[in-house]
Parts: sequence; structure tokens; C-alpha cells
Amino acid sequence: MTSSPRNKEEDVSQVFKETVEEINNTFQFLAETGWKGFDCSEESLKKIEKWGGEDIKLSETLEEIRVDLGDCQRCRLSKQRRHIVFGSGNPHARLVFVGEGPGYDEDQKGEPFVGAAGQLLTKIIEAIKFTRKHVYICNIIKCRPPGNRNPMSDEIRTCFPFLKRQILAIKPEFICALGTFAAQTLLETKIPISKLRGQFHNYMGIKVIPTYHPAYLLRNTDKKRDCWEDMKKLMAALGG
Ligand code: URA
Repeated sequence: MTSSPRNKEEDVSQVFKETVEEINNTFQFLAETGWKGFDCSEESLKKIEKWGGEDIKLSETLEEIRVDLGDCQRCRLSKQRRHIVFGSGNPHARLVFVGEGPGYDEDQKGEPFVGAAGQLLTKIIEAIKFTRKHVYICNIIKCRPPGNRNPMSDEIRTCFPFLKRQILAIKPEFICALGTFAAQTLLETKIPISKLRGQFHNYMGIKVIPTYHPAYLLRNTDKKRDCWEDMKKLMAALGG
């Protein structure tokens, strides 16, 4: 919380440039020493050299990302969806909630968390002294899987880059990952949500606190206490 968003952007950009430079140097070195394990052809080296010089788009807006997403047909979920659920809320939020994917109500309205689970999420947000307008709410995938089945790994792979870009555009300090899918996808782990919850993890320098998904809490009301413990930690870290 010490660095301003501008500094964070510069930091990421600097780290990216340094990493690309290191990769360039490593490949150059491997090429010079006659290494054959990688494609060290002149053509490939030229391509890699250009990476560092590319305009790294770290400052795109949510609107630009939405335009790029367009009437997305990148995966099979586009066939049966009614609406793409991009995300909603404050584009400069300190806190982003990430769920799994749209359900029936969200697909109908094109808005995240507007059904029964959404009503509980609204209460959770208000319990930590925010409103839905203060935070940003989105999902790992943007289209409803038929019959609310779990998202498939290729669907997540296709959709996730857009969420990543949204997060880079918002530059939040905190992400609250709601449920197994959100937590495991963001943190690239298979550790169960019961073990991940209630602790701060790291995603691109952003503090991530996983907690139970509101839909799970509706079915397992005894777990609401755990969620409240997680939210108290989040509130304290937010300085509230
Ligand atoms: N469940 C989710 O994970 N996301 C929504 O938007 C709605 C329900």
C-alpha cells in the first residue's frame, strides 16, 4: 500500500523489460555456444529481440478491453450464452471480487452476481463497509456454462487473459477470490479452498485473499463464520 498505482505500473514494466533482456541474453549466449536444444536461429533471435521494444500495453482501460472482447466467439460457451458478463463496479477499485462464472440470472442481465449468491455477496461487501459501487466484481469466465456446469480448462485458458488485463487496468490493492475456481485459477494451485482461505497470497503483486463462494455459503451456512473471519482480515488490511 506504499506504492502509488503509477509506480506499480512502472515497476511491472521495468521487471518485464529486465526479464525480456535476460531472456535475450540467455538465448544469445546459447546461440553463441552452439546450443541446439532451443531454436536459436537468426530468425528466432530477431523475433525475441523485438519483444523488449514492443509497446507493452499496461495502461489500457476497461472500455478498451471490453471493445477488444467484442461479441466474443473464442470458445464454445459463446454458443449458448445470452450475455457476456464482463464485470461491473469501480474501474479504480482498491478491492476486486473475482467469482467463478455467470449463472442463469447473470447471463440474463449481463451483470455479475445478481442472483441469490449475488445478494449474499452484496451483504458481505456491505459488512466490510463498502458498497458494490466502491468495488469491482467480475468472474474467471465471462459466459455461462450450459446448465451451470464447471468451466472447462480450455474455456478458462481462453477467457482468463481478459480478466488479467482487467486487473492490470484496475490496479487494485486487494483481490478477494470467491471459491475454489477463482482461488485456484488466480493462484495456479490445486490446494483446496479450505486451506487457501483466510490468508493473503500474491497475484502480480496484488494481495489475494480467498474465501468461500457465496453460493457455497448459501448451502453451508455454518461456513459463514469462516467467511466473516476472512473478511475481518481483509477489512483490517484495507485499513478499516
Ligand atoms: N456465481 C459466480 O461465480 N459468479 C456470478 O457472477 C454469479 C454466481
